[in-house]
Amino acid sequence: MLEIKNLKKRFGKKVVLKDINLKVNKNDIIGIIGPSGCGKSTFLRCINLLEKPTEGQIIFHNDDIVDNTKLESTRKKIGMVFQQFNLFNNMTVLENIILAPVMHNMMTKKEATKEALRLLEEIDLKDKKDFYPNELSGGQKQRVAIVRTLIMNPEIILFDEPTSALDPEMIGEVTNLMRKIAKEGMTMLIVSHEMNFIKNFCTKVIFMSDGYILEEGTSNQIFNHPKNEKLKNFLSKINDI
Ligand SMILES: Nc1ncnc2c1ncn2[C@@H]1O[C@H](COP(=O)(O)OP(=O)(O)O)[C@@H](O)[C@H]1O
Ligand SMILES: [Mg+2]
Repeated sequence: MLEIKNLKKRFGKKVVLKDINLKVNKNDIIGIIGPSGCGKSTFLRCINLLEKPTEGQIIFHNDDIVDNTKLESTRKKIGMVFQQFNLFNNMTVLENIILAPVMHNMMTKKEATKEALRLLEEIDLKDKKDFYPNELSGGQKQRVAIVRTLIMNPEIILFDEPTSALDPEMIGEVTNLMRKIAKEGMTMLIVSHEMNFIKNFCTKVIFMSDGYILEEGTSNQIFNHPKNEKLKNFLSKINDI
């Protein structure tokens, strides 16, 4: 459904992504690992067109989306969840969730509200609908941010370190919601430092370093039989697996 071909991204003179190639099939749960600063966030941001690729193609349903005219329609179909939640602090939970579908004329305010309440009920946060983000815990904020993405009915969701800003006891509620969404057939790309989660949850894992995908494989191949020296070195420094 999605194919990234020869993707390059430069900031000024700094080349962050040199030549990234990846095929994503429907229902893939792809984990992206690699050292800090290697371009994982930039890669996700390019897929969602929050950054314009310097070169290369992003083919989504046989259409190259690296083209400003497709920005809006692409963003509706490719959702993104951020480390810092990115909720609007001056809006209630409900207002945050219904903003995009109403703004894009995908639903009336009434329809969006109904759907938002249904989704909030599923994650046990219906009673928080009129709360402001700063009245919620980190785990609750991230679950609201995920629901805000889900109401757009995306085909793919990109998660950029969705649990990194959370206290440890709140990580589970977010990863459990991610598991539930995956079970319902969502395609996901996930950047995370939670190696156990990546190892157990992802159908495919890619290791990024130096602007390239240096190794790609099943979770078993990447974590138990790594071939690339840089990947071996990266894994040896992580002690939670
Ligand atoms: N908007 C930007 N302008 C300039 N440099 C950037 C910008 N965004 C990211 N970078 C640089 O690109 C590199 C990769 O960043 P990032 O994608 O955030 O890495 P990661 O998510 O793997 O930690 C870093 O060196 C970072 O400083
Ligand atoms: Mg990052």
